[in-house]
Amino acid sequence: MVTATSNQPASSWSFAELSPAETQYLTHGYHRYPAKFIPQLVRQLVEEYSMPGDRICDPFGGCGTTLVEAKLANRLSFGYDINPVAVMITRTKITAIYPEALSKRSAYWKDELEKSAHVTEEISLPPNSDRLLYWFGETNLKRLIQIKSILNKETDPAIRRFFFCCLSHVLKNCSYWLTTSTKPQKDREKIPESPDNAFVSHLSRMIRRNAEFYEEIQKFKPDEPPAFMYKADAQHLPVPANCVDLVVTSPPYSTSYEYPDIHQLTALLFGFCETLRDFREGFIGCKTGDLHRDEDLTDSKASKAIARLRIADARLGDAINSYFVDMNHVYSEMYRVLRKGKRACIVIGDTELRGVQIPNAEVAIHQMRKVGFVLEKKIQRPVPGRVLAPYRDKHNGRFTSAGNSEAKKIYSHEYILILRKK
Ligand SMILES: C[S@@+](CC[C@H](N)C(=O)[O-])C[C@H]1O[C@@H](n2cnc3c(N)ncnc32)[C@H](O)[C@@H]1O
Repeated sequence: MVTATSNQPASSWSFAELSPAETQYLTHGYHRYPAKFIPQLVRQLVEEYSMPGDRICDPFGGCGTTLVEAKLANRLSFGYDINPVAVMITRTKITAIYPEALSKRSAYWKDELEKSAHVTEEISLPPNSDRLLYWFGETNLKRLIQIKSILNKETDPAIRRFFFCCLSHVLKNCSYWLTTSTKPQKDREKIPESPDNAFVSHLSRMIRRNAEFYEEIQKFKPDEPPAFMYKADAQHLPVPANCVDLVVTSPPYSTSYEYPDIHQLTALLFGFCETLRDFREGFIGCKTGDLHRDEDLTDSKASKAIARLRIADARLGDAINSYFVDMNHVYSEMYRVLRKGKRACIVIGDTELRGVQIPNAEVAIHQMRKVGFVLEKKIQRPVPGRVLAPYRDKHNGRFTSAGNSEAKKIYSHEYILILRKK
């Protein structure tokens, strides 16, 4: 049983008073990303558990919320993610571009795009574009390929990445992907937006945000706090031992979001992978791929949940078993890279699958204690419904809407676990 609790009221960690716009300030609104952190929550953890100049690491970096907030708080940071789309978004979000240069290059390329608009029919589709055609239709797909190849001629890598991040964000709007869904679901009634309009209007928003971010970063000049983002598996961090002052992260949840499915539009259009099958490699918490791990879990709560799930659905049981085995490796890595006496802050929620409770937080505590961590606090944090859908599909455990007849309300809180390396 967990006895350590926070002295702080849980409500002070809920950030329920914030409007969605208030969580999208500076570069945070560049790109949608499922289950991203509330930036204010990260800032509170960073300020409470580290000092200016400290090294912060996020092994599941996602779209870079931790890195942006670490930079704004004058900490050095490095993030990792297996998802190349996450790496592209994060690198864009942590890079403040000189606003005048960005405006000039944007005006130039907007002109070039306008000039090219009438020659789309000359664009030939790459081999194996069936899936892209399925999502975009021929007209939008050809134009998107053309826009990408024009923007690819930008010679400044930071500005080119800025344009690509913008284009990636609008892909869903320009496709038949059901607007309200994080699952790959086609909406045959949808009228996809024109790539030009969608790109140009999001670009203006991003340019304004970059200028604000640039301004904010000026206060640190000439020593802007560095931030680095790389593609890597959190089970094997390319980081030397004993050099991190604070880990702030939220792990992927077992079978809640299928990130490779969600980011397939960007991954396929930008050529981050040949096929969706390749793209799924290495993601923790995915239900596909090799789900067999030759390791036993020592936690009875985890083992019981897996045994019950295996009765209902053997493959789902294997998926959860693989998830916990993989997360065990991640916690060992966190322990290795942290300096003695330093902390890991893990934001994690429980799930339910096929009527079986999956006690992610308790299993995380058990696994982290086994590798040598000491639990300092377990903060139960209410999650406002508008931030994270509280409804889950009864069968597959994924987030869903209240309108789904298979929906079950189970998600009204999550945990912030604070553990210290002995
Ligand atoms: C809950 S999200 C993190 C979101 C992040 N806190 C943010 O604010 O954007 C979990 C992330 O874990 C990543 N992930 C899944 N498997 C991974 C692995 N083996 N190594 C590193 N990252 C992985 C996913 O791509 C996803 O970005």
